[in-house]
Amino acid sequence: MSLAGKRILLVIAGGIAAYKSLDLIRRLRERGASVRPIMTRGAQEFVTPLAVGALSASHVYTELFSREDEQDVGHIRLARECDLVLVAPATADLMAKMANGLADDLASTVLLATDRPVLIAPAMNPKMWAHPATQRNFAVLQRDGIQAIGPMEGEMAESGERGRGRMAEPLDIVARVEDLLSGPKPLSGMKAIVTSGPTHEPIDPVRYIANRSSGKQGHAIAAALARLGADVTLVSGPVTIADPMGVKTLHVERADEMRDAVLSALPADIAVMVAAVADWRVATSAEQKIKKQPGEAPPPLELTENPDILKTVGHHAQRPRLVVGFAAETENVEENGKGKLERKGADLIVANDVSPETGIMGGDRNRVKLITRDGVEGWPDLSKEEVAERLALWIATQIGGTGA
Ligand code: CTP
Repeated sequence: MSLAGKRILLVIAGGIAAYKSLDLIRRLRERGASVRPIMTRGAQEFVTPLAVGALSASHVYTELFSREDEQDVGHIRLARECDLVLVAPATADLMAKMANGLADDLASTVLLATDRPVLIAPAMNPKMWAHPATQRNFAVLQRDGIQAIGPMEGEMAESGERGRGRMAEPLDIVARVEDLLSGPKPLSGMKAIVTSGPTHEPIDPVRYIANRSSGKQGHAIAAALARLGADVTLVSGPVTIADPMGVKTLHVERADEMRDAVLSALPADIAVMVAAVADWRVATSAEQKIKKQPGEAPPPLELTENPDILKTVGHHAQRPRLVVGFAAETENVEENGKGKLERKGADLIVANDVSPETGIMGGDRNRVKLITRDGVEGWPDLSKEEVAERLALWIATQIGGTGA
């Protein structure tokens, strides 16, 4: 892909990762983009405007109240005369300003004044990233439609600490920029529904039945479909991971709520049911907390079957053109997968072995088999992101969307 003719306004904030921005500028320009840099005061402590100016072959903008800068383009034009505003690195401080609409220097003013898409690449100490204030600000930015890449897990340049906080690699940032600025995508104009995570089935107001699903695989699939241009509704059970970018996420707890949310999102072209829906719920969950009764036997739990969401969608009058289910198995993966394909009215079952020794449930990797009426295709051990990426491409090929 190329970025020929694309204009990137690059905001460099003050963090050690600013040194990577030099490489980022090179990579963007190699692909034909022009780069206009803005540096915060902090950024100039880490890399010099001279280096940034030389690599970008552009004037470097640093001051809000500079007669020279203002006469040149002015901050409002600076904010608008671009195809994308890229903030790399995005520090905790700049993110806090953006989330709250502060505008006390050139970078924050431009970010408030722009009407262009904004992509941030956060980078900071892992403790700063994990701090509730930063997480709150990040959530606000996501709600405001700001795109983000990273931060990544890894070792910090300055302290050797490990954790999430490293800026995404320049090439990955460039790939994301290309993605954001490219034209129609293979799933443009398609609607997809994805379920993800576990469900919680209440026993009483404080207790519930659940399972070990983390939502990582389903969320990654929702994000991958969105990256291919699909309009994605993600129906998520209770998970601790963030809502994916570029996706409409509906949060539910119980299987019946998940079914209602899925049905309300119909019609759709694609359904990918990844959630580990509890097969059973407690027949009548107690209104009040069940108390221990001294000397009495523990209360029996009478279970009743939950709606099968995949099966409902697979046999629905508004059945999506492509219905994909997952099969979490601990034995006879292929056989059971084939059975599910038929029973649930799916076009594809992605079967994975979730025996405890595989570490798949809750883990970061997955080894799956694709089971269709035409046969079985085994994929190698991959990260859940890679499985998502490949599956989204598989879906795009099957459904032959517009703009492919
Ligand atoms: N599924 C669903 N609603 C349910 C149960 C399962 O939508 N109530 C979907 C899952 O999202 C998954 C597929 O069905 O895509 C397979 O789920 P799994 O629990 O592995 O299969 P079951 O139908 O429960 O079969 P079994 O109990 O034999 O494993």
